[in-house]
Amino acid sequence: MDLTDSVAVVTGASSGLGIHFSDALIDRGATVYGLARSADKLADVQDTLGDAFCPLTCDLRDETEVENTFAAIRDESDRLDVLINNAGLGQFGPVDDLPLEDWDVQMDTNLRGVFLCTREVVPTMRSQNDETGFGGHIVNVASIAGLLGNPNLTAYNASKFGVRGFSDSLMKEVRDDGIRVTCLYPGSTDTNFFEVADVEMTDNPLAPEDVAATAMHVLESPANHFISEVVLRPLRPRG
Ligand SMILES: NC(=O)c1ccc[n+]([C@@H]2O[C@H](COP(=O)([O-])OP(=O)(O)OC[C@H]3O[C@@H](n4cnc5c(N)ncnc54)[C@H](OP(=O)(O)O)[C@@H]3O)[C@@H](O)[C@H]2O)c1
Repeated sequence: MDLTDSVAVVTGASSGLGIHFSDALIDRGATVYGLARSADKLADVQDTLGDAFCPLTCDLRDETEVENTFAAIRDESDRLDVLINNAGLGQFGPVDDLPLEDWDVQMDTNLRGVFLCTREVVPTMRSQNDETGFGGHIVNVASIAGLLGNPNLTAYNASKFGVRGFSDSLMKEVRDDGIRVTCLYPGSTDTNFFEVADVEMTDNPLAPEDVAATAMHVLESPANHFISEVVLRPLRPRG
């Protein structure tokens, strides 16, 4: 897809990977609607990236907020080419010591939020396909934790394995509607994620701009071609 003049939604755009996805999209001429809960952080991102970044405060755990946010985007824009389902968090700990709210926040953000946003864009992308022969592209950010289990990550692993299953099913459901679906599986990446999770980052994480560059490669793939899954790992993770 040529991203010039395209319209994208990036969730989790107030921090980390979401900022880098937004930056790379804007660099290629896209308008980006950036969703997150922190209005102040989104305003800082807009100061840096400029007016092509349109901040929208939205808690993805709230069905009504998600519906209203996408309705506002549809009011403003007559097309929507890209959705990057990126927002997410980790809360780790032994299974018998994991508070229910930690389980719920990961399922509700990492998995249910992906469902809520995806169902908002599929009808628009389907009608774009009817008009132009191409619907759009949905990129889901899972994690290597969506492929491999780790001790003390039961909830995070379960949510990201869920994103994998959701993505594979969605890909087969909508590819004939001209909608591409890609699931990314990054390894440790240098963002705020580890601070939120309250764990130490690995010694040699991926750079978020490199993950964003891979996402742009995926989005810019030629017509009648899409990359359905990408696993990204740091070389020498222990430095
Ligand atoms: N960093 C890693 O090592 C790594 C590796 C593999 C996969 N990932 C995945 O990459 C994605 C991005 O994470 P990151 O590394 O960039 O971490 P980050 O810097 O902590 O960013 C997380 C983003 O998610 C948003 N978010 C969290 N809860 C939300 C909610 N309820 N509603 C809306 N937005 C919400 C946060 O914004 P607000 O707090 O402002 O709402 C923030 O913008 C996540 O899905 C994560 O699981 C990360």
